[in-house]
Amino acid sequence: MNTASTNPVTAVIVVAAGSGQRLGYGMPKAKVPLGGDSILIHALRGVAEAGIARQICVAIPPGDPELQALCESFAQDLKAEHRLTAASGEGVQLPAVTVVDGGTSRAESVRAAMAALLPGTQAVLIHDAARALAPESVFHRVFQALCAGAVAVIPVIPVVDTVKTVEPTTGDGAAVAPELVTGTAPRETLRAVQTPQGFDLATLQRAHEAAAGFDAGQAAAVTDDAMLVELLGVPVHAVRGASQSLKITTPLDLIIAEGLLEGPLGTRWVEG
Ligand code: CTP
Ligand code: MG
Repeated sequence: MNTASTNPVTAVIVVAAGSGQRLGYGMPKAKVPLGGDSILIHALRGVAEAGIARQICVAIPPGDPELQALCESFAQDLKAEHRLTAASGEGVQLPAVTVVDGGTSRAESVRAAMAALLPGTQAVLIHDAARALAPESVFHRVFQALCAGAVAVIPVIPVVDTVKTVEPTTGDGAAVAPELVTGTAPRETLRAVQTPQGFDLATLQRAHEAAAGFDAGQAAAVTDDAMLVELLGVPVHAVRGASQSLKITTPLDLIIAEGLLEGPLGTRWVEG
């Protein structure tokens, strides 16, 4: 990967401070085992392999000693690998690894991580640890769009299901079914949105500052960072994501992720 000096100095924020309620393991999702490692380690390896970060900043559940130790040992492994590759003459940058306490919402975790970025950071990719198997190619597509001048970039995939809007059924209809269809979204214009999402750092900071005044309902509706940038009226560009970047949310997703790791080709070779 070409990370020439004209490219923005880039950090990758990995948000891993969620509790994993829907996965139901009784532990933070970042710790849940996947293919013999934890979900967080898979996510961090993907970020490191992409080779675009000067800093990897991880938001973990506040004061979690196991995840803190896991990040420290990942940083040590990176240093050891870097010594080997440096000895072989490959000039790959060694990212700094920073760990911060996340917040009670994803957006708060992003803000905590942004506050810990190194001076001089110009661009940031924000990645869900839960998308543990996101391939390098997606990181590269997002980064390349930033290098080409985009201020905000998201990876997307086409929606395969027909998507309808509904409202609760009222009156007599409630005895028939709980919801009534109000419309069908035009599928060819719909995209499912993934991470890593890439931003010019100053723009992302402005977007999060604007969100500081949100009430609880508005704050709960913020499910990604691009939404906040859209509210500023800044164009958000979309590049191709990957199906193996699925967000591990439910037990079924974990089964799929395990299957991808055990597949004959190995997950990082599956595109589309
Ligand atoms: N996240 C975070 N801080 C929070 C909430 C979420 O850093 N307070 C992160 C999660 O760790 C995850 C990503 O945001 O990597 C997407 O969130 P989600 O998939 O909803 O994870 P959880 O919140 O852990 O899961 P659940 O909603 O089922 O509890
Ligand atoms: Mg959540």
